[in-house]
Amino acid sequence: MSDHGQAVYTASKDFIAAAHVDAAAYDRMYAASVADPEAFWAEQGKRIDWITPYTLVKNTDFTLGQVSIKWFEDGVLNVAANCVDRHLATRANQTAIIWEPDHPATPARHITYAQLHDGVCRMANVLKAQGVKKGDRVVMYLPMIPEAAFAMLACARIGAIHSIVFAGFSPDALANRINDSAAKVVITADFAPRGGKKTGLKANTDAALLHCSDRVKCLVVKHTGDQTTWIDGRDIDLKAEMAAASADCPAEPMGAEDPLFILYTSGSTGKPKGVVHTSGGYLVYAAMTHQITFDYQEGDVFWCTADVGWVTGHSYIIYGPLANGATTVMFEGVPTFPDASRFWQVCDKHKVTQFYTAPTAIRSLMGMGKEWVEKCDLSSLRLLGSVGEPINPEAWHWYNETVGKGRCPIVDTFWQTETGGHLITPLPGAIPQKPGSATKPFFGVKPIVLDPATAQIQQATETDGVLCIADSWPGQMRTLWGDHARFEEAYFSQYPGYYFTGDGCRRDADGYYWITGRVDDVINVSGHRMGTAEVESALVAHAQVAEAAVVGYPHDIKGQGIYAYVTLMNGVEPTDALRKELEGWVRTEIGPIAKPDLIQWAPGLPKTRSGKIMRRILRKIAENDFGALGDTSTLADPSVVDDLIANRMNRG
Ligand code: WTA
Repeated sequence: MSDHGQAVYTASKDFIAAAHVDAAAYDRMYAASVADPEAFWAEQGKRIDWITPYTLVKNTDFTLGQVSIKWFEDGVLNVAANCVDRHLATRANQTAIIWEPDHPATPARHITYAQLHDGVCRMANVLKAQGVKKGDRVVMYLPMIPEAAFAMLACARIGAIHSIVFAGFSPDALANRINDSAAKVVITADFAPRGGKKTGLKANTDAALLHCSDRVKCLVVKHTGDQTTWIDGRDIDLKAEMAAASADCPAEPMGAEDPLFILYTSGSTGKPKGVVHTSGGYLVYAAMTHQITFDYQEGDVFWCTADVGWVTGHSYIIYGPLANGATTVMFEGVPTFPDASRFWQVCDKHKVTQFYTAPTAIRSLMGMGKEWVEKCDLSSLRLLGSVGEPINPEAWHWYNETVGKGRCPIVDTFWQTETGGHLITPLPGAIPQKPGSATKPFFGVKPIVLDPATAQIQQATETDGVLCIADSWPGQMRTLWGDHARFEEAYFSQYPGYYFTGDGCRRDADGYYWITGRVDDVINVSGHRMGTAEVESALVAHAQVAEAAVVGYPHDIKGQGIYAYVTLMNGVEPTDALRKELEGWVRTEIGPIAKPDLIQWAPGLPKTRSGKIMRRILRKIAENDFGALGDTSTLADPSVVDDLIANRMNRG
């Protein structure tokens, strides 16, 4: 990130005048939110409807050994009723979801709040008929289709806990998540059309279910209608059952701290972690951040391009927008199909007002030239958003000028699966933007920067270090599914007393935060989080691999690419065919998003005398920056480093 200059961009006078929050309001509200969080959130909690109002607001403790996070704990609500039913009186015929299919020739669907209510209730009744009850887990493995929204809200309606598995994950990854959460039901579709190709989700689910309990039922959305295998007694035609089900289903009263969903995400060690979000605090935070960060106004058409398989899709396609009675766009396709103007055509077609995407998409479209943007009418846009990784200034400027025509504020939103909603982000009418900086904390968020070695809080305004958060906010995750000890260990043990984000950051003289990326063994590939340990364990599961070490390296489009050092079993020939085989192997074990970009054959890996792999060195070589490897004297065999440098794969 070279542009640490002081170029500052402010929204237009008109934008600021109409915005929910201007600079003075931000200062006043932020100060109030951290001075008296109880009072602040007691007020904000009223954004949503409660069956029984809360009297308790905040009950949180970050002390290692007794970490406990509760918000609005005696309140009772139903999340689906908040996202659907409460809008019926005023906006039954307003579009809740605009569904834009993979192929532009397929008609879009406009689903009103009344139709959403119908779909959600019917699906909830189908789930109930399959024996799904409050607290049961339902895994979803779906394309970006309206049924995904129905299914999420149907679970919320009956108090079941959904766990969405991104449709790009492999059968093995799906099976692990079904088993870890002991799900009763998996909801899938026949095929997922994406970019003109079809992924056989039902076939993948069949493969996954071979590794799961026989009792798991499989509800199948016949989406494309293509032929699939069918197991009577286990597989259920979801659309047919919905058509026959009652469109009336009472919403289950839920405690604010009852789990709403589990979402598995990658960590620095071990298997993926089941992040648990609960009902009340999560919804308040998703709704508030959606309204304030994106300056959502009545009549806006909001489009977040994420997949519902990621947290961004949960909070900013479904829960935040629908809690606010918004119109939200759900897009099945990809930015480059049928051609590189697809995003902009969809903005033009549906008169999108807020557009929220990832820097990797911007970089890849930027490379295809601005003519793809210029042939579309983007005059409806009033705000742009970015999420998932730091946005490099070059991409920021292209986004600002070519897409936003210099008149749309850009909100660079820093947050995580664990945080439920935005943590650090410009508020468009309040905080001037600096390209590449997520700027300032959202209400109630207290960022602190620590020295990574001493764990001392850096008091100076201008500083750098690791980013922690000093106190809880309502959208924070509550635990890891079935493993509270691991939750404490992963997030509260390294810097006791604080929530550790895993990210490094710099704070500039204006108090702006610049996220510099993960400081743990998590890499960020095209905005997708990937634990290097997961890729390593997939590689070593191959019979011909003795050892593997995986690191990230800078990649022009993806942000980071996956670089794997692989040591083969004695006597195995390193061939191109084997390299291809290993790539395919990782695709099957985890999914296409985990496929290594570069595989280097490593006769040996740099290890300390106690056998620990020195990743710092591997990262440097992968970055093609081997001039300053630092101290290699503690290596058991320093000569392996010379070999790795000589045969390095990234020479760019
Ligand atoms: C990174 C996605 C810089 C960060 C919502 C974080 C970002 C991880 C930004 C979480 C941003 C996300 N600027 N880095 N605006 N947004 N990140 O859980 O490293 O998929 O820890 O959540 O993405 O990824 P996750």
